[in-house]
Amino acid sequence: MSTTKKTVTLLGAGTQGARLAYMWSRQGYPVSLIDKSSKQLELAGEKIEALQKEGGFLGSAEGQWSNVTRALSDELKSAILKSWLVVECVPESLSLKRAVVEELDQLAGPETIIASNSSSYTITEILGGLKTKYPDRFVSLHSYWPPETSAIEIMGSGNTRPDIISLLKTETKAHGFEPFHVRNLSTGYIYNRIWAAIKRETLFALEEGVATPEEIDGIFKAVLKTPKGPCEQMDVVGLDVVLDIENHYAEVRPGLPEEPRTYLQKMVAQGKLGVKSGSGFFKYGDVKE
Ligand SMILES: NC(=O)c1ccc[n+]([C@@H]2O[C@H](COP(=O)([O-])OP(=O)(O)OC[C@H]3O[C@@H](n4cnc5c(N)ncnc54)[C@H](O)[C@@H]3O)[C@@H](O)[C@H]2O)c1
Repeated sequence: MSTTKKTVTLLGAGTQGARLAYMWSRQGYPVSLIDKSSKQLELAGEKIEALQKEGGFLGSAEGQWSNVTRALSDELKSAILKSWLVVECVPESLSLKRAVVEELDQLAGPETIIASNSSSYTITEILGGLKTKYPDRFVSLHSYWPPETSAIEIMGSGNTRPDIISLLKTETKAHGFEPFHVRNLSTGYIYNRIWAAIKRETLFALEEGVATPEEIDGIFKAVLKTPKGPCEQMDVVGLDVVLDIENHYAEVRPGLPEEPRTYLQKMVAQGKLGVKSGSGFFKYGDVKE
């Protein structure tokens, strides 16, 4: 991190923003969590407090928990001026991400790294066609479900300064993440690509009538000793979300088979979205509205 700036700013205080605020405050260094909604900031405060109670403090030179300052978007500029790193965690809309990244580029000095936590859009896609002041300071920094799943993937844009990659590897590790560097430009992160192939082949096997969801999950768990099979895991993510992700891969990688998408489209059209709708590959009770 920069010797003068110690703060990490997170833009978007939703599911990821709150979890990332907890992670980046674990060494005692300041965190700014910014959102346009005061309600979201309040909920994030409760989440961070709960995580701090059950999770751990990793320690710092100062030897105490840092404050997570929660503030509305009009304080973004002052937060960024103190930050060595700003991570956008706003919802998954390419136009929103592009607008946000453009604004961050305007507000931040050249020494501040600008990162995106987007699951499906690489920083290269987000930057596509944008004229930025300092094009070498952008990076994808994609977390999973910290602190429980601490893996984090770091992927440059092709123009990203190598010292940014090294610094992020060091600092994420120091804050309790397990960093993985995506060494080349890639449509999808390392894990997501492997998981996409598993989902795709699962759907293909279902479409061909090779096995039932119970059988696919059964054999997957028996061989790999994982707690969930691919059908159950897709139900948790949401079948509409799985379809969006597969459509995105299909757009940028011609030649992917259509059958898995067709199979999913039929399920989504029947209202089978997985856990959130009460049924997907399996049935679920107690769906909260
Ligand atoms: N949820 C996950 O499991 C997960 C995992 C890895 C990565 N991601 C990625 O993280 C990002 C955020 O996902 P999430 O699940 O935390 O979303 P979320 O909907 O829970 O939170 C998004 C937050 O951004 C705020 N926001 C929207 N527009 C804003 C703006 N212009 N300025 C400031 N705040 C704004 C919203 O009020 C909300 O609090 C997405 O890109 C997603 O792909 C999500």
